[in-house]
Amino acid sequence: MSFMKLVAQKLQTVFPLSEEELLLALETPANEAFGDVAFPCFILAKKLKRSPQQIAAEFAPLAASDWWSVHAEGPYLNFKMNRPRLMKRWFDEQLSGNGGTPSVGGGKRVIIDMSSPNIAKPFGIGHLRSTMIGHALYRILRKVGYETVSVNHLGDWGTQFGKMIAAHLEWGHEIVAADDPIKAYLALYVKFHEEAKSRPELELQAREWFARLEAGDSQALAYWNQFISDSKTEFQKLYDRLGVHFDYVLGESFYNDKMDAAADELERLGLLEESDGAMVVRLDEEELPPCIIKKSDGASIYATRDLATALYRHDVMKGDQLLYVVGSEQSLHFRQLFLVLDRMGKPWAKQCKHVPFGLMRLNGQKMSTRKGQVVFLEDVLDEAVRHALLKINEKNPNLERKLEVAEAVGIGAVVFGDLKHSRILEVDFNIADTVNFEGETGPYVQYSYARIQSLLRKAARQYGDHSAGEINGTSPSDFTAVSSDYGWQLFKKLIAYPEALRQAAERLEPSLLTRYLIDLAQSFNRFYHHERIMTDNAEDRQAKLKLAKAAGQRLQEGLQLLGVQAPEEI
Ligand code: ARG
Repeated sequence: MSFMKLVAQKLQTVFPLSEEELLLALETPANEAFGDVAFPCFILAKKLKRSPQQIAAEFAPLAASDWWSVHAEGPYLNFKMNRPRLMKRWFDEQLSGNGGTPSVGGGKRVIIDMSSPNIAKPFGIGHLRSTMIGHALYRILRKVGYETVSVNHLGDWGTQFGKMIAAHLEWGHEIVAADDPIKAYLALYVKFHEEAKSRPELELQAREWFARLEAGDSQALAYWNQFISDSKTEFQKLYDRLGVHFDYVLGESFYNDKMDAAADELERLGLLEESDGAMVVRLDEEELPPCIIKKSDGASIYATRDLATALYRHDVMKGDQLLYVVGSEQSLHFRQLFLVLDRMGKPWAKQCKHVPFGLMRLNGQKMSTRKGQVVFLEDVLDEAVRHALLKINEKNPNLERKLEVAEAVGIGAVVFGDLKHSRILEVDFNIADTVNFEGETGPYVQYSYARIQSLLRKAARQYGDHSAGEINGTSPSDFTAVSSDYGWQLFKKLIAYPEALRQAAERLEPSLLTRYLIDLAQSFNRFYHHERIMTDNAEDRQAKLKLAKAAGQRLQEGLQLLGVQAPEEI
């Protein structure tokens, strides 16, 4: 339900304007005391050859309806909604399953490249952001009618695997960290780069091992497979905690036998040129550096694999749209990739989109794998959960299944804290601030949801209102009890949910949903603090509980779409 739409539909019978023109012209008065919707009459002054004030005065009676009252205020027509009537109408619509989600996807298949960490390296904070943003988009887009497919594009190929094997053979026996192979791999990687400065033969060995790997040498493959399975086991622990799953896990190596075809196609189309021994696609017109397809030694690179990947995702996986949730530092790479596809005459190149995001710092610290300055994400999550447990012990020491709830709150805080900001912004992440039940945080929203559930349980206990506020139960006939300003503001937030979802999907911006949930939780809490919900008047109580319950449903669904759990009790 949108008031603007209702008003526009009425006004098109009164003014010489279409519904669409009216929708564009209607405004929301800055001050709610003036009304819920306003129409600026000056846009009609020329057409009707009268002053805006005259138009407002003359048309006010014609614009009136059972759903609102209309007042002429200077050049404006101000519409004040009939609150209880509209609330009743909305709840009745929900009852008939008509409250719904916007359907904008039309069943189109969207392939989302997300997470995509690198084998034998720590799962980086950028990969964490990609996982959380990608996961939220996966669910939001699905909700609004797309068919979403997630792919984890593991970095499992490249010359670094030659280095890893060489390092493993040199020092593998020294560096064992049985409980955490990734830490051992990181130590090997760092050691390799340190030692190679004074022992150039190491680089030589590394190159040899990579050549063997490329040639399918069984010993090289055995080492490589070990790296992969160790890394996958570690990554899976994180995915499990975050509740993330992938429809496909296809490493870069999956495309090894598909790259030649891509390069051949470029060749056939006359797009490939030589440059310093390398084969490239020039992008001079766009003033971009050329996209390198084959290095001077004939080796393929990241871009070549991504080209083969895109072709596969479109031709074989039948993706209508390809999204890449990858840090903004790779913007140039994706611009080049999409331009090359465009040069190849692929009309769907326009449906490829890089969904970039900014850097994340942990407590002000930037991290780099090379130097071994890594924050292990397990530790970050553990720390968040520990903070959550401390808070729960303060607030509700007798809570059942405390550890489970702390896990949901701690992890939820991290996810929500990440998704709260427009994704392109840099995030400075501070665990203590994020795991806070006050402020604009995940735990605040979770706590608001739990508060609503506890209210409903209490109503059932005290008054036997088992269907208290039941959306599917009978509707109270009168909503006057919730039509005060606090109830009305909460109601207005509630009905804005489909629009928030639509915008989050359209702009690929989970932060719009996060923002919405914070606002909704705040509106509910204001309502809760100002209105006595557990009144003895059954009809009033039912109306209030119904509003609370509807808010709870939105909070729960919204959190779920973001990949955040909503415990019933905190
Ligand atoms: N593994 C890459 C990295 O860590 C990210 C891969 C992103 N996806 C892609 N199709 N290029 O930088």
